[in-house]
Amino acid sequence: MNKKINQIKRKKNKSKLVCLTAYSKNISSILDKHCDIILVGDSLGSVLYNYKSTKQVTLDIMINHAKSVRQGVKKSLMVVDMPYNTYRNPKIALKNAKMILKKTRCDAVKLEGGKKIINIVKELVKNNIQVMGHLGILPQTDKKFSFKGKELSERNRILKEAQLLESSGIFSIVLECIETKLSKEITKKLDIPTIGIGSSVNCDGQVLVIDDLLGLGNKKLKFVKKYLNLNKLIDRSVKKYKTQVIKKLFPKAKHSFH
Ligand code: KIV
Repeated sequence: MNKKINQIKRKKNKSKLVCLTAYSKNISSILDKHCDIILVGDSLGSVLYNYKSTKQVTLDIMINHAKSVRQGVKKSLMVVDMPYNTYRNPKIALKNAKMILKKTRCDAVKLEGGKKIINIVKELVKNNIQVMGHLGILPQTDKKFSFKGKELSERNRILKEAQLLESSGIFSIVLECIETKLSKEITKKLDIPTIGIGSSVNCDGQVLVIDDLLGLGNKKLKFVKKYLNLNKLIDRSVKKYKTQVIKKLFPKAKHSFH
């Protein structure tokens, strides 16, 4: 059994798991000091590429960013999202998951969905591939991005799917925008750790998109806390640079070769 995966699983009910997304080496090398899990999320489609949906993210894009992220990761568990359409059946999923693992040297892959992907998850697990699940809002396939668990039938379905995924061998699961009491119930009923995003403090850990946490970009989401206003800092720095270039205050002699 993978040592890092075991460490993650053992943290359940002991200490909260810290997870963030990263899309490049400079960021991942900072996050690595603080995170249990670094996720190369297909959220990079909207964050970096301004795609309308994560459906447009390709395997090549994920692999390239994951290779960069890998350069900065020494101790955290590195998980890579399998993009839309790359796990449409067990055979294709296995081929693509193997390629992601081989080319990026990540520790695990993440797949969105419940009942529909159970055979795919089983095939990956049977082939010793570590799989992280993802329930609640499913950005790859959902049409509406409102929180999940409003109705009893939906609550029962999500809980059942979480249990089904666990019994299929996933090591952890992301719960995206799931109602507070439901995320608490799922977390209590599962033996594997739940990682919440917009799913309350009741989860075993939390994940955020790094650009959102840093205040880079202009997204306003209820479940995000901005720990920094990087937009403002970059704006100020670039403005200062511009002034100094125009006034010939940069570069100075010390920045030049003599
Ligand atoms: O793609 C992503 O970044 C994700 C997280 C938001 C959980 O799936």
